[in-house]
Amino acid sequence: MTAATTLPDLGPLWMPFTANREFKKNPRLLVSAQGMYYTTHDGRRVLDGIAGLWCCNAGHCHPKIVEAVREQAGKLDYVTAFQMGHPQAFELAARVAELAPGSLDHVFFVNSGSEAVDTALKIAVGYHRLRGEGQRTRFIGRERGYHGVGFGGISVGGMVANRKMFGGVMLNGVDHLPHTHNLEHNAYSRGSPAWGAHLADELERIVALHDASTIAAVIVEAVPGSTGVLPPPQGYLERLRAICDKHGLLLIFDEVITGFGRTGGNFAAQTFGVQPDIITIAKGLTSGVVPMGGVVVDKRIYDAYMTGPEFAVEFFHGYTYSNHPLATAAGIAALDVYRDEDLFARGRKLAPVFEQALHGLKGCRHVIDVRNIGLMGAVELAPRAGQPTVRAMDVLRGCYEKGVLVRTAGDTVVLTPSLIISESEITQIAETLRSVIQTVA
Ligand SMILES: Cc1ncc(COP(=O)(O)O)c(C=O)c1O
Repeated sequence: MTAATTLPDLGPLWMPFTANREFKKNPRLLVSAQGMYYTTHDGRRVLDGIAGLWCCNAGHCHPKIVEAVREQAGKLDYVTAFQMGHPQAFELAARVAELAPGSLDHVFFVNSGSEAVDTALKIAVGYHRLRGEGQRTRFIGRERGYHGVGFGGISVGGMVANRKMFGGVMLNGVDHLPHTHNLEHNAYSRGSPAWGAHLADELERIVALHDASTIAAVIVEAVPGSTGVLPPPQGYLERLRAICDKHGLLLIFDEVITGFGRTGGNFAAQTFGVQPDIITIAKGLTSGVVPMGGVVVDKRIYDAYMTGPEFAVEFFHGYTYSNHPLATAAGIAALDVYRDEDLFARGRKLAPVFEQALHGLKGCRHVIDVRNIGLMGAVELAPRAGQPTVRAMDVLRGCYEKGVLVRTAGDTVVLTPSLIISESEITQIAETLRSVIQTVA
């Protein structure tokens, strides 16, 4: 225990994706972090089971990343990314391109996952237009997809709560694949479930409905995270790839969560051996230390943009904080840490331990499914009658009181620890979950 921190006035802050009134009655504030642990405002140590929010892959306050940001802040605080540059932005792009599969070798940096998604959608439409196929403007997303909160992202996304308030003002011309979550066939799968590849064939039906010539791109999370960790059925992503190739559609993998070692490979594209045309990234790019996202594109997409007169701007898009020096410093340092500490290999080695620990919860009261891939895991609970999501939130609160931070997605408890987690900490998370799940109503 460390000394408690006096609480500030909680009133003025409008908290995102939070039940503000409930939170402010019973606040959970974190005041410092190191490695796998947070310290709470009331002086307790809490084991972080979710890498902040699927992002602190190198653990919290890694000294090398902290030092890189500190040094950068004193040396070069800001440079506009429009018609100007700084060395670290180019260096980080090259480092990301090295990690990305095959010919995905150009990177457009942004400041978040949401910006990455909306940028990727614009890049896709522009690519077709530049090739003389300007009528390709439709996007195909997927039910239960989360692609951030921009208008593009919620339009291709498939989370009802995020969409319903904005139904009338979303992008036109978006259709959705069915999701792949199916407890009847796939409950307690370890890694990719055996059933469900045929659901990719729905893309053929959607293409037939709209005609391929109107469709720009298909966007899916390689592994949907925010709706409860749904590993793709075996062969599913391959089928999507084949159908996209057949009809000239770009395939975008949203790897905002799955990038940077989360599923074992550098990206999930490598884990599953399926190469998309565009990958969106964020989170683990800087290990969560400074906000940053990016869009990694295939060479032929970049080349298509580089065709007009050389004096002309090729892509009328960007943000004041694109290529921000603090973010690029954090990004380079994070990639150094991943490489020097071989953290992706560490994640691969721990994945079976994590799998075993979570699947040990099968048979616990309320538990109706456990699923996992790499260091992404989910324990789905039966919803309490008439009160969806409440049981899982009770579990979150119970775990927090017992010193473990978990996250909920509906009635599913999700776990995505940093790649630095130890085997005993994995056990601690699973056993804390077990004891709390047994006691909630
Ligand atoms: C797959 C995916 N895409 C996009 C986003 C949005 O990222 P951000 O919250 O940085 O805007 C998230 C956030 O969790 C995500 O999981």
